[in-house]
Amino acid sequence: PTGLLADALGRPLRDLRISVTDRCNFRCSYCMPKQVFDKHYEFLPHSDLLSFEEITRLARVFVAHGVQKLRLTGGEPLLRRHIEALIEMLSEIRTPEGLPLDLTLTTNGSLLARKAASLKAAGLQRVTVSLDGLDDAVFQRMNDVGFPVAEVLAGIEAAQAAGLGPIKVNMVVKRGVNDQEILPMARHFRGSGVTLRFIEYMDVGATNGWRMDEVLPSSEVLARLREEFDLLPLSASVAGETAERWSYVSENAGGQGEIGLISSVTQAFCGDCNRARLSTEGKLYTCLFAHRGHDLRALLRSGASEAELSGAIGLLWGGRADRYSQLRASGVSSLGDGERRVEMHYIGG
Ligand code: GTP
Ligand code: 5AD
Ligand code: SF4
Ligand code: SF4
Repeated sequence: PTGLLADALGRPLRDLRISVTDRCNFRCSYCMPKQVFDKHYEFLPHSDLLSFEEITRLARVFVAHGVQKLRLTGGEPLLRRHIEALIEMLSEIRTPEGLPLDLTLTTNGSLLARKAASLKAAGLQRVTVSLDGLDDAVFQRMNDVGFPVAEVLAGIEAAQAAGLGPIKVNMVVKRGVNDQEILPMARHFRGSGVTLRFIEYMDVGATNGWRMDEVLPSSEVLARLREEFDLLPLSASVAGETAERWSYVSENAGGQGEIGLISSVTQAFCGDCNRARLSTEGKLYTCLFAHRGHDLRALLRSGASEAELSGAIGLLWGGRADRYSQLRASGVSSLGDGERRVEMHYIGG
């Protein structure tokens, strides 16, 4: 029976993250460093991308297996032409119980002011926006293309006005690069209805030159926040959540919102990881740190039936034993000789 699918460690499949383009107009040093992703870099040709029909067909099969949340990622998903058409198609999918999906998207915000209303109209429910600081010099050092903070903030406001909430903002923290922005970001978003989440800089991909000394552990982020704010821990709102949540305590009891800490380096959350990732060209990755995906596009394009697609996905998830962050934390490497991990810009986050 569908919906009861569990992997080799007993984890269900709940969340499908779909990368719709490997391109981005930013060059964040932790994701697409300029030296690697320069004008000679070859992105995927259009014929390699899954079409909207192919994405929707696969999404339906995943939903039949228990997926309740779809997140569009990139690269920068708003760079994919006519993304609204895909959102319309996905928004029609229902769970086996007849419920709508949680349909969301992670964006760098650069095109959001222009697109918020049309995304909402197409059926998108909410957005998560990446923003690594409020100071232009710091933010531009992170995005490395001179993109101004004000335009991302305008995008967030447009998304709020369009009803694309509750909105989350993701801030990747790199020690010595943008950690001085932790408190200004918290002050800015406290009480705004936006949930700010601090993300530990992760060792994804093979190009960002990750070093442990550039990770600012969430425990330190929390300590800095607590010097200024009263915070109380909240319990997880859904199983398998990435963020540990804390709420601001205020005199008039609440209303100031919450923050999140995403600690994949210092406190791995593989134990109940229910996330599958579909790459731009239709490969299924069962872990953010996998070095190999499974080619679902080949199946689609060879004329596989629904039952065959469903069987293949069921087998792949059923055999899954990934828990990269946990193993890395305990000093075990899962990479063989010559194997490279998948890049973040190609698999989303
Ligand atoms: P919501 O809370 O439903 O909005 O979704 P989410 O927590 O999945 O949000 P988002 O996609 O914004 O992810 C937040 C951060 O967590 C990103 O930096 C992701 O790369 C990271 N992340 C998400 N899923 C995983 C995961 O399975 N493993 C690891 N190590 N990091 C993850
Ligand atoms: N470490 C942590 N987070 C990262 N992201 C991209 N690369 C990294 C990394 N190396 C974040 C983006 C975005 C989310 C999807 O992933 O900033 O918010
Ligand atoms: Fe683009 Fe997001 Fe990667 Fe930055 S983190 S380069 S905005 S895909
Ligand atoms: Fe899931 Fe892999 Fe992330 Fe662990 S490291 S939480 S298994 S995606």
